[in-house]
Amino acid sequence: MPMVQLVYSSQPTKQMASRDLMEILDVARERNQDARITGLLCYAGSHFLQVLEGERKQVCETFYRIADDERHSDVTIIDYNYPPERLFTDWTMGYAGLGEIRRELIRRHAPDGEVASLLPDAGSVMAFVRDVAHELSHGFLSPD
Ligand SMILES: Cc1cc2nc3c(=O)[nH]c(=O)nc-3n(C[C@H](O)[C@H](O)[C@H](O)COP(=O)(O)O)c2cc1C
Repeated sequence: MPMVQLVYSSQPTKQMASRDLMEILDVARERNQDARITGLLCYAGSHFLQVLEGERKQVCETFYRIADDERHSDVTIIDYNYPPERLFTDWTMGYAGLGEIRRELIRRHAPDGEVASLLPDAGSVMAFVRDVAHELSHGFLSPD
């Protein structure tokens, strides 16, 4: 079964308290571990950006479940590809609240500092996600 990477954006249907986010992450990490899925969830207040990677069948099943979740809407696939290897080997679901991400990291990819401005261009989204992952794995950001 081929390995795939799926990236989507969505908009929270209400403002997320950290407790809401922890609830999502607790379930996500448990389910993803069983399904051998790895990835990253970014919460930017106005948007979620999530990367899911793993076996195609597992990623698709998980994504359909997530897409059905009423805690967000406007679920939009940004990229779906067959990477040579996983980008997020260490994380069943890494997490970055964009409130904590340095503004210049967003500006590196979106000059106006708005995550929404990244979304039209899949390449920018992927470059941004890679930067967030890099900072997370080097401890520049503290995952909750
Ligand atoms: C932004 C967001 C990201 C989510 N990420 C995942 C995930 O990575 N894996 C997962 O299994 N569920 C994730 N969920 C939760 C699913 O939508 C769903 O609630 C959960 O998988 C349990 O599904 P079930 O109640 O149908 O068993 C996420 C939900 C939201 C709103």
